[in-house]
Amino acid sequence: MDVSEKTRIEETLARLKGLLGEKGAIADSAGMAPYLAEQRELYQSNARLVLRPASTREVAEAVKLCAEASIPIYPQGGNTGLVGGAVSTPDGVLLNLGRLNRVREIDPINFTITAEAGCVLADIQRAAEQADRLFPLSLGAEGSCQIGGNLSTNAGGIAVLRYGNMRELTLGLEVVLPDGRVWNGLRGLRKNNTGYDLKQLFIGGEGTLGIITAATLKLFPRPREVETAFLGLKRIEDVMQLFARARAASGDQLTGFELVPRIGIDNALKHGVNLRDPLKTRHDWYVLLEVSSSQKDSGLRGALEDLLAQAMESSLVQDGVISSSEAQRNELWRIRASLAELQGALGGSIKHDVSVPVSRVADFILKANAAVSARLPGIRPYPFGHVGDGNIHYNLSQPAGADKTVFLKRWAEFNRIVHDIVVEMGGSISAEHGIGLVKIGELEHYAQKLELELMHRIKTAFDPQGIMNPGKLLKPAP
Ligand code: FAD
Ligand code: MLT
Ligand code: ZN
Repeated sequence: MDVSEKTRIEETLARLKGLLGEKGAIADSAGMAPYLAEQRELYQSNARLVLRPASTREVAEAVKLCAEASIPIYPQGGNTGLVGGAVSTPDGVLLNLGRLNRVREIDPINFTITAEAGCVLADIQRAAEQADRLFPLSLGAEGSCQIGGNLSTNAGGIAVLRYGNMRELTLGLEVVLPDGRVWNGLRGLRKNNTGYDLKQLFIGGEGTLGIITAATLKLFPRPREVETAFLGLKRIEDVMQLFARARAASGDQLTGFELVPRIGIDNALKHGVNLRDPLKTRHDWYVLLEVSSSQKDSGLRGALEDLLAQAMESSLVQDGVISSSEAQRNELWRIRASLAELQGALGGSIKHDVSVPVSRVADFILKANAAVSARLPGIRPYPFGHVGDGNIHYNLSQPAGADKTVFLKRWAEFNRIVHDIVVEMGGSISAEHGIGLVKIGELEHYAQKLELELMHRIKTAFDPQGIMNPGKLLKPAP
C-alpha cells in the first residue's frame, strides 16, 4: 500500500467516525471484541472499525465513503450464523445493523409487518402477536438473530413445513447497494409481475450484493390451538412413513415434524439441565410433531389422537405422549433445542446441513451411516432436525475417547463422503445455513459450472469493486 492510499484510508476512517459518532463507530479492541467473535469458533474476525449506523441514511453514507476508498464492508446482524458469513478481515470495516431496530409499520388488514433489518427475530414475533397476528419464522437463535441476517441466510427453522422459509415470507426489501445508493423495494404486494424479482437476489445472498436495511414481511392468523406430540419409533423408515400419514391426514395443520435420535436424548439427559426422558421406554428414533389451527375448538386434539392410535395399531409408532400443558410442550421443545447446544459434550463434531427429497430422507441416513462407519468404525452419527422439509443436520460425533483435533482434521474427508451421497440423491449441501466461508469449497465442487458463472456475473453486476462481504459465498473471480 503506497502512502497516498494509506492517507486516503485514514481520512475515510476519520470521516466514518465523524459521520456515525461515538455510538456508531467503535475502534477500541474491547468494544469491538463481541462483534469479531464467531459462533462456531472456527474463525477470528478483525477490522479497522466496527460501524453501527442507526438509520438507512447513515448506512448509505457510510457505504458511499467506503466505496470511494475501496474499503471492504462486512455486514453483520446478530452474529449467530453457522457458516462464518459475518467474519471480517483487517483491511475492512464490519457493519453491524443492530441499531436499525424499529418496526416501521404493522398492517393487520394486509397481514404485513415492515421492520428494520436489525430487529431481533423474537421482537418481531412479539410485535406480530400484539397485533393478533403470527410471524412464523422460528429457530433456536431467535432471541438474538436479526431479520437482516434471517433474510441474508434465507433462514429456515422449525415451521417451514407450514409457512415456508424466509424467502417465502418476504414481500419487499430496502437495500443499500455497494455504491451507497438505496433501492426502495418495500412493497407489500402478493401479486406483482413487473419484471425480475430483484429482492430474491438479496435473500440468501449472504450480504454479498448489498446491505438489507428493512423488509416487508408476511403475517398470518395467530394459532388458537396447538398440539404437540413426542413419539418413539423403531426405524428411520417408520419416521418418514409417519410423516406421509400425518401430512395427508392433517394437511396444512401439520406445522412441525422434527427428528430426534436416541443419541441426542441420552446426551441431553446426561448434560442438560432439568431435562427428563419424555417416554418410559427407549427407542432408536423420536419425532417431535406439532399441529396447529387458527380456529379454537377445531377438533385438532381428537384428530391427532386418532392418527397416533392408528399409527400405534399398525406398529409404526411404538410409544408417545401428547403434551397436556404449555409447560410440558416447552419441555419437549427444550429437548429438541438441546440437540445442537449439547452435542459438543460428545467431543468433536463434523457438521453437515443437508437436504434431500423428503422421500429419500430414510435412504440417505441409512446410506450415510453405513458409509461413515465403514470409513471410521466407532464414529457416532447424530442426525436430527427438520426432516419434514427433507432437511437433516447430519452431524458426526467423534468416536468415544478419540482425539478431537485429529478427528476434526478429517472434516473435508467426511464432507466428501456425505455430500457425494446427498448430491447423488438430488439433494443440497446447504439446506438452511448458507455457504459463508465454511462451504465455499463445497459449493465450487458441486455447483454446475454454468450456475457458478451466472452467480459471478450477478456479483460483478451489483458489486463491480468486490467490496461487499468479499470472499463469502463465492471465491473472488479469477
Ligand atoms: P449473522 O450471523 O450476523 O449474519 C449471517 C449472514 O448474513 C452473513 O453473511 C452476514 O454478512 C449477512 N447479513 C447479516 N445481516 C445482514 C444485512 N442486514 N444485510 C446484508 N447481509 C447481512 N438457521 C436456520 O436457518 N435454521 C435454524 O433452525 C437455525 N437454528 C440455529 C440455532 C442456533 C442455536 C444457532 C446459534 C443458529 C441457528 N441457525 C439456524 C443459524 C442462524 O441463526 C441463522 O442463519 C440466522 O438467520 C442468522 O441471523 P444473524 O442475524 O445472526 O446473522
Ligand atoms: C437446529 O435446527 O437446531 C440448527 O439449525 C442446528 C445447528 O446448530 O446445526
Ligand atoms: Zn436447523
